[in-house]
Amino acid sequence: MSRLFLRKSVQDCENDLAERSGLRRSLGKWHLTALGVGATIGAGIFATTGTAIVGDPLRPGAGPAIVISFMLTAITCGFAALCYAEFAAMVPISGSAYTYAYASLGEFVAWIIGWDLIVEYAVGNIGVAIGWSGYFRELLSHFGVSLPAWLATDYRSARLAAEAVAGGAVDPVNQYLASATTTAPQVFGFNFIANLPAFLVVAAITTVLVIGIRESANSNNAMVILKIAVILFFVAVGSTLIRPENWNNPATGGFAPNGFAGISAGAAIIFFSYIGFDATSTAAEEAKDPGRDMPFGIIMSLIVCTVLYIVLSLVMTGIAPWQKLGTPEPMVTALALADGSPRLLSISRFIVSLGAVIAMSSVLLVFQLGQPRIFMSMARDGLLPPFLARVHPRFKTPYVATIITGLFVATFAAFANIAEVVDLTNIGTLFAFVLVSAGVIVLRKLEPDRVRPFRAPWVPLTPILSILSCFYLMLQLPTLTWIRFGVWLAIGVVVYFLYGVRHSRLRRRAEGQG
Ligand code: ALA
Repeated sequence: MSRLFLRKSVQDCENDLAERSGLRRSLGKWHLTALGVGATIGAGIFATTGTAIVGDPLRPGAGPAIVISFMLTAITCGFAALCYAEFAAMVPISGSAYTYAYASLGEFVAWIIGWDLIVEYAVGNIGVAIGWSGYFRELLSHFGVSLPAWLATDYRSARLAAEAVAGGAVDPVNQYLASATTTAPQVFGFNFIANLPAFLVVAAITTVLVIGIRESANSNNAMVILKIAVILFFVAVGSTLIRPENWNNPATGGFAPNGFAGISAGAAIIFFSYIGFDATSTAAEEAKDPGRDMPFGIIMSLIVCTVLYIVLSLVMTGIAPWQKLGTPEPMVTALALADGSPRLLSISRFIVSLGAVIAMSSVLLVFQLGQPRIFMSMARDGLLPPFLARVHPRFKTPYVATIITGLFVATFAAFANIAEVVDLTNIGTLFAFVLVSAGVIVLRKLEPDRVRPFRAPWVPLTPILSILSCFYLMLQLPTLTWIRFGVWLAIGVVVYFLYGVRHSRLRRRAEGQG
């Protein structure tokens, strides 16, 4: 039993690192911040905000009070960020939460986190690809190109749109999506509806990653500037279109139409838009001075995103009546409904769609790059089969893991529904935050003397608040999401006992066999 909780000491992690080819330590604190912002701003803010504002059949919407949801989630992420920062400074090794757990809570918990990170990275990217597809469709429409709806959405979205249209919705997005139910070809008696752009974008990114892309800090910086610019553009144009009555219209329920229940449900959805600041920790091996710069990068990227999200959500709900924003492209919808010069609004929709497509492509790239590297760390530790660590002789990339990740993400992106995927990603990531926060408390007890270049303040209070607030957000997610996540973890436990337990390098070392 005690073997299950065998810990890889921080020293062991460092030794493993020394065995591998060294990466160049070239990233400063602002590079790391840019990395975090680059991984964070994507489908969450551009695509899922609509559901959080309006709600769906499973939960109430936040309405204009979505801005409070963004603040609540930022506080939750803030507690977690302090815990990540302590680990990232102390164990500056890529692998993120998986590595931290191996060093603090032992092998079994590390395995569970690694398994859980598949939900954050790979499943998260399914959601980003679907969000990408929505804005891509809008972009094509500016060139007069319109895909048949059955090739641009998923079955559930089409059915929900058809119900909305039957209930009297007259907006073009719902009517377009609903048309999939009547135009789709029949395969074995079922409507064949698939999101082709979402599939293709993942396939393209996978190809690029297999051939090998040197993710350069400079191209990431350019991407981040573009993301921030497009949000500021939306804010600038939008602020001229605000009608304050949209924030507090008694006819539509006022500022918080569903009270705190709506605000909390919204907070749990838009948590997706914050995921990514923790991905900064995967660059720890490339940080110039990880002890000082990792905490800065993690916390600063969270602050930058929080400020942008708060301003953006205020503007979005100020432009248009909140109950009309529940589409896959809420920023475009807000501009479409706004009262202003049609030409300016059309150009703005084009610019926002283009910015959104590029922003989401960069998130796809970061996570599609990160997932195979986590697989690689786990395979090197013997917890996954060695072929996942295989590096291509010519391209020098972990091609097997990259292709497997690509196939998984692309296939699900073609058929899954974004809300369901986002819920699953959120519960999985919140769970990882819980374990990392617990890890901080445990490691302070187990290795009190270890050098901690950054110490999270008020331990154990901060990690405890992190655990409680993450758990609160998890509770806001639908029951079905809990069931799906439970099944996923159960499969993980079975895989561990069938494979990892027998092949673990650490365990073999401990038993004197390797
Ligand atoms: N935070 C990332 C996004 O919103 C996952 O796309």
